[in-house]
Amino acid sequence: MSTVAESSRPITSRFDPRFEVTLYRYVGVEGAHTLDAYRAHGGYAAATKALTERTPAQVIDEVKASGLRGRGGAGFPTGLKWSFMPPPDGGQRFIVCNADESEPGSFKDRYLLEDDPHQVIEGMLIAGYAIQATLGVLYVRGEYYRAYERLQAAIDEARAAGVLGTGVLGTGVDFDLILHRGAGAYICGEETALMNSFEGLRANPRLKPPFPAQAGVYGRPTTINNVESFASVVHIIDKGAAWYAAMGTDDSKGTKLYQVSGPVHRPGVYELPMGASFRELIYDLAGGPTEPAKAFIPGGSSTPMLPWTDANLDLPMDYASMAKAGTMLGTGGVIVIPESKCIVDAMYNLVRFYAHESCGKCTPCREGVSTWLPKMFQKLLAGLGTCEDLSLMEEMVRHLRGTAFCPLADACAMPVAASFQHFRSEYEHLVDTGTPLHPRTSRWVA
Ligand SMILES: Cc1cc2nc3c(=O)[nH]c(=O)nc-3n(C[C@H](O)[C@H](O)[C@H](O)COP(=O)(O)O)c2cc1C
Repeated sequence: MSTVAESSRPITSRFDPRFEVTLYRYVGVEGAHTLDAYRAHGGYAAATKALTERTPAQVIDEVKASGLRGRGGAGFPTGLKWSFMPPPDGGQRFIVCNADESEPGSFKDRYLLEDDPHQVIEGMLIAGYAIQATLGVLYVRGEYYRAYERLQAAIDEARAAGVLGTGVLGTGVDFDLILHRGAGAYICGEETALMNSFEGLRANPRLKPPFPAQAGVYGRPTTINNVESFASVVHIIDKGAAWYAAMGTDDSKGTKLYQVSGPVHRPGVYELPMGASFRELIYDLAGGPTEPAKAFIPGGSSTPMLPWTDANLDLPMDYASMAKAGTMLGTGGVIVIPESKCIVDAMYNLVRFYAHESCGKCTPCREGVSTWLPKMFQKLLAGLGTCEDLSLMEEMVRHLRGTAFCPLADACAMPVAASFQHFRSEYEHLVDTGTPLHPRTSRWVA
């Protein structure tokens, strides 16, 4: 893995010459995590502008006009989500930052939290003002200990400097943050499970509706967004919605943090304008594959893989293009799959992850994801699979789609379905010969 400093070096984009590195500008810069450093390059000016020159409704309108879509995976329009909050009733309202980042292939939020925590805090402050919440919850993945330490230090500094607390930044606005370490499970990143986990309950997802805006943390109106979404808000307020919306494509605006992992020369996190191509990301920035590749996962392990073709590499990385190609942009976590990798083994590795991380609350996930799917993979990889097993597995992943309580089962089913769609011959080879087409490299043995 290249260093963060190296991966975030200033770059331009072939796709859009107006693009400038924005979110990751100070990631990898020594000492950038302190309040002094943040303020030295204009930090908290956007929050001051929002709190003193705009009404909460105007901040929401500006974020709507920017076209920002949530960066946690689903791409829901951020300003629209904020506008779902009911009018204040005098009780507590919450703004929540989802910093649980546990999906394989996704690691963009981590370096923002570690190296530029004030950018995230400033985004939360602006968002809290917009939805009229005086309390924020920053839920950080339990294993991200360095991020936790940096965030706690940043919150302490901000409180001491009057950036958080009563009458923040010399205004009449109150806003404070609670930093909460996650419970060490991928399911804790699902927004309703996260709220349960924060409240000290088991991280089972809640039924929706009611949505968090109606009944969120402790049953109170809550808005929850991803780390990168909050960081983006700072620049939208600072430079204006029009500046932000000028970058990107019709349905996907602004800049985005993409991640590249797998056998490439320079794996890491790269910021690009929305709509730049996979080719630009994988070849120009990540240096291209170190060995022949046969597929890539476009947006974190939950998104369906695409075969390694010129047409797919030239696809723009935006929400509409990914949907048209039958996949999703997700978190922008690109995983390159080499020719030499056994697809069945790779999918078994992935299925084991989802099986382990499922909360077990609903039957499709508990029986399908956590029990039968891994067993079927074990049978196949032991050389005991039949043609009927393949059909059964395909049917099983079809039935997992949309039938579980939360999207975790879909997240497991979609990549497996795509592997059958594009690489069924590897499954058939295993059934026909009892051995994989390519040697197994995963450390899990069936
Ligand atoms: C199993 C599962 C795990 C998730 N993990 C995360 C996560 O780690 N970070 C995140 O921002 N969103 C995660 N999400 C999506 C959140 O539920 C939610 O959509 C997101 O935090 C909303 O933020 P956004 O609108 O800014 O994208 C996850 C969803 C599921 C189903």
